[in-house]
Amino acid sequence: MSEPQVWDDVDEYFSSQLSPDDEILLAALRDSEAAGLPAISVTATQGKLLQLLAQIQGARNILEIGTLGGYSTIWMARALPADGRLISLEYSAKYAEVASRNIARAGLDKVVEVRVGPALESLPKLADENPAPFDLVFIDADKANNPHYVDWALRLTSTGSLIVVDNVVRGGRVVEDDSDAPDVRGTRAAIELIGSHPRLSGTAIQTVGGKGYDGFALARVLA
Ligand code: SAH
Ligand code: DHB
Ligand code: MG
Repeated sequence: MSEPQVWDDVDEYFSSQLSPDDEILLAALRDSEAAGLPAISVTATQGKLLQLLAQIQGARNILEIGTLGGYSTIWMARALPADGRLISLEYSAKYAEVASRNIARAGLDKVVEVRVGPALESLPKLADENPAPFDLVFIDADKANNPHYVDWALRLTSTGSLIVVDNVVRGGRVVEDDSDAPDVRGTRAAIELIGSHPRLSGTAIQTVGGKGYDGFALARVLA
């Protein structure tokens, strides 16, 4: 998918006016790159959207699946009260270590906990702890498991909670109903689960910007 310069320029303009990266966010990106992490964090405009959504939710408890270097984590955790909590699940011990340093520099290590391991192993352990329902769940890990993550999100939330799924467009391949690609199949299964589940009301929005053409799904948990 092509990424016209104009999308970059407009995203840059919007971020400069509405969601400028401060030193802490810039340092998180810089150190992530220096440690060799892939440059696939949300953009600043998307990070700000996640922060606004957390604030609109009045979120006290946030769950993130897919930490990378903690860039989206910092945006969301900044919406939490001092006694709030964000749990972020990350497969890679190395990425989690980079993220933990970035989160500590942001002064958020008291509210954020990064848990290392495959999320499908961390989620049942988390559920066993009977945590307070999460007000916001941000799903941004291996796309093949997206339906399982939506399923777990349903178990760990309550009425009024919001579930956000990143990267649902797959370069447009999400329309391919005969695809064998695990990311397309997982994303389609998640969209169809959101569309058919009696306890979810959702939508999906295509986006362009600094990371090209993509999109996210939003789902509200009903009674
Ligand atoms: N949310 C981050 C970007 C996450 S990139 C941000 O916007 O800043 C996706 C992350 O999911 C990567 O760090 C990858 O290691 C992690 N991941 C992939 N498979 C996973 C799994 N099975 N369990 C947990 N994390 C996983
Ligand atoms: C990929 C993952 C992401 O979470 C993202 O936002 C962009 C790309 C990837 O795995 O390529
Ligand atoms: Mg993503």
